[in-house]
Amino acid sequence: MGVVALVPAAGRGERLGYGMPKALVPVDGVPLLVRAVRGLFQAGCVRHVVIAAPPSDVDIVNTVTAPSAPAGGAVHVLAGGAERSDSVRLALEYALRELPGTTIVLVHDAARPFTPPSVVNAVVDAVAAGHPAVIPVLPVADTIKEVDAAGTVVATPDRATLRVVQTPQGFDARVLLRAHEAGLHATDDAGLVERLGVRVATVPGHQNAMKITTPFDLAVAEALLAGGKA
Ligand code: CTP
Ligand code: MG
Repeated sequence: MGVVALVPAAGRGERLGYGMPKALVPVDGVPLLVRAVRGLFQAGCVRHVVIAAPPSDVDIVNTVTAPSAPAGGAVHVLAGGAERSDSVRLALEYALRELPGTTIVLVHDAARPFTPPSVVNAVVDAVAAGHPAVIPVLPVADTIKEVDAAGTVVATPDRATLRVVQTPQGFDARVLLRAHEAGLHATDDAGLVERLGVRVATVPGHQNAMKITTPFDLAVAEALLAGGKA
């Protein structure tokens, strides 16, 4: 089974405001991206990781992530694109071109450094069992409102039917390529695949798979580590 993980890491981390690309921001001395890549390899089913790096940081990303690769595996680093979807597409095209036998791909944010290996395996197992697209999800704790442009509430969706979506998202590699080639727009890869009319399955996510977006999130990550919870 050829599982390749694609890691979009080319964002600027503007909301975090750390003065460097978010992927390279350290938590207890180890960059977020390095933690994310280690977690993917620890799952055991991933041998190759393709990273879309900030174009000016390809060499440093290579240097910091290469030691995480297991025997028989490797980290591959290329320059990412202007939008997250461009970075994913570049990494996917690289994998299909350079890593023969790639049948299952995971797309995993560099900004989710504590994703448990068990979540990685649950996603891969579900794709291997025949689901062309699989995402890890959590129940929604807050009530969610839909508002109009003026901020007036127009609807309250039933919370029981809502889920928070995490990564890694897993796909049949050819299905994900078709989705990226279709010229559609969505805020995640599963959203692109959905628009092709492909069914997207869910598996349970994990709170530790949280995305680090703001300084608050980084403080939570540091507290999790300090408390031995990640
Ligand atoms: N990403 C990417 N290429 C881009 C934009 C984002 O590979 N052109 C990656 C980020 O590096 C991150 C993931 O997509 O791992 C999720 O994006 P986000 O959390 O929005 O990160 P940033 O874009 O870096 O943050 P911000 O939007 O605050 O600038
Ligand atoms: Mg962004």
